[in-house]
Amino acid sequence: MKTCRDVIMGHRSLHPSVRDKAITDIRSALSDGIAFLASQNVPSAELTAELLLMDTLEKDRAWLYAHTDLKLAGTTLEQYFILLSRRANGEPTQHLTGYQEFWGMDFVVTPDVLIPRPETEHVIEVAIERRATGSGGGSARRDQPFRIVDVGTGSGCIAIALAKEFPAAQIFATDISAAALEVARHNAARNVAHSRIEFVECNLMDALLQQAQRFDLIASNPPYIALGEAESLPREVREHEPAVALFGGEKGTELYAPLIAQAAALLKPGGLLVLELGHNSAQHVSCLLAASEWASFAITNDLAGIPRVASALQS
Ligand SMILES: C[S@@+](CC[C@H](N)C(=O)[O-])C[C@H]1O[C@@H](n2cnc3c(N)ncnc32)[C@H](O)[C@@H]1O
Repeated sequence: MKTCRDVIMGHRSLHPSVRDKAITDIRSALSDGIAFLASQNVPSAELTAELLLMDTLEKDRAWLYAHTDLKLAGTTLEQYFILLSRRANGEPTQHLTGYQEFWGMDFVVTPDVLIPRPETEHVIEVAIERRATGSGGGSARRDQPFRIVDVGTGSGCIAIALAKEFPAAQIFATDISAAALEVARHNAARNVAHSRIEFVECNLMDALLQQAQRFDLIASNPPYIALGEAESLPREVREHEPAVALFGGEKGTELYAPLIAQAAALLKPGGLLVLELGHNSAQHVSCLLAASEWASFAITNDLAGIPRVASALQS
């Protein structure tokens, strides 16, 4: 069996100072880690090296920069080198540290779930904003009873963020992947939202169609990448994130029509639908939400100016 040291030494392109174990303190560990990752074309090399060293030492960034002269034990360095090597070999940083931050909370991530993306926070923002302005989902008070569905919950990030923002909400979170739901349940328990979220394994919202009560808000970040785009995805996405979370079909947009049809049946009159959009889905979704069941259609751009969220009210 290969030892840790074999793994590191076997990584031929490892930065020489790392290979020779010239690193003695946190400052050098960081600068050599950054140089190594940059030489391997890993994006955000500085942030990544910091995160991997923080994870190795189980310390936060402030501690790291307050102790830059601290000498690191050989075993600690070995651990850090292995993480650097694995990252350079394409594993996402979040799979190495086990976490991703979303809406101010830490979410456990595994290869069974999509790593929550910052742009998905716009889904939460739109839900809060439209409700606060009375333009979606019934009563404008956040503490009023409120029924929500998150379709394709993955890590549970949308459902749990909404549970945080709407403390009186009862939430159903669906996913077709049993493995993803395990991760989502774990995250809900860690974030103290578990008592208000029911996790349901089903296709879209199939299992909710028999419910007598309707919903105030349905939110979703469905898979929306076209199968033909797989090769153009970054390696860490293509090889390490679940295909069921990425690909919506040949065109990528295939799940929106059945999702919107179910939402029309499940929302209360005036209930709010909020959907994340892929780079090629705004026009398709706009056409679907131009139907007579929907009113007050809006598109919200992300920080890069890309149409990112579609929202509409059940009329
Ligand atoms: C793009 S990921 C979104 C995950 C999470 N909501 C987020 O925003 O990070 C899509 C999720 O939908 C799930 N999914 C894919 N097809 C589905 C279907 N037909 N019904 C329910 N869930 C589905 C996947 O397993 C995955 O967890």
